Amino acid sequence: MKIIQITDTHLMPRGTELHGLNPCERLEACIASIKEFHADAEMCIITGDLTDRGHRKAYHDFREILQQLPMPYHPLIGNHDHREIFSEVFPEVPRDEHGFVQQMLATEQGRFLLLDTVEHEKHWGSYCQKREIWLRGQLEGAGSEAVYLFMHHPPFNIGIPALDRISLREDSKRIQKIVSDFSNIKHLFFGHVHRPISGSWHGIPFTTLRGTNHQVQLDLNAEDYLPYSHEPPAYCVIFLEPQQTTVHFNDYLDDSLYMKMPLTLT
Ligand SMILES: [Fe+2]
Repeated sequence: MKIIQITDTHLMPRGTELHGLNPCERLEACIASIKEFHADAEMCIITGDLTDRGHRKAYHDFREILQQLPMPYHPLIGNHDHREIFSEVFPEVPRDEHGFVQQMLATEQGRFLLLDTVEHEKHWGSYCQKREIWLRGQLEGAGSEAVYLFMHHPPFNIGIPALDRISLREDSKRIQKIVSDFSNIKHLFFGHVHRPISGSWHGIPFTTLRGTNHQVQLDLNAEDYLPYSHEPPAYCVIFLEPQQTTVHFNDYLDDSLYMKMPLTLT
């Protein structure tokens, strides 16, 4: 199964720049690349910070641009999003019984659980008891099926102090406690940190990637400022199989020299 992950698109209303870049144009270039090279992917998941300031117009622009994708797409929300305005523009995206933008996608490779880690008007995230009940129910319902988690905030620190201050903080322990009760979680995909990172957490492999607009520099001394940069944007091409997960990072605006060299096998 082939899927695409995009994250942190941070759209501003069309024509408005953000940190010296044009988020709509950069997302359009991302979609154009996916259409050209990965139109056979089964779905695209966008892991939050869809807009930078929760503007209604920016959500409409986001919808208009994403509709150009040839495959279904599933957005979840991040700390820069506005839950209610998002739902006004995306009324078809399910919410759980408490109104959180959480949903389960049943796929041939198992259950995809898309989580809502947003604390309204805060940059740090939360995962409260109400959301915990939903997640536990989904994990119990999965039985022996494989589960893939998608969320905006990582449930752990990544070592860049300024980002760790806007993580899930205390609620990281809540998520860790939940997942430790299950052994069928195959991978965790998240956004928020605007950097390519992979590793494992309590035995669960994870990856994240750069956003489509601005990035976060690898500045491990960043305590009281966010080290934003213009490193190249990316999207991920992900292959899911029962015994293997493969994640490719595609710097879709990179125009460095590309050569097709003859392959010699002997
Ligand atoms: Fe972001």
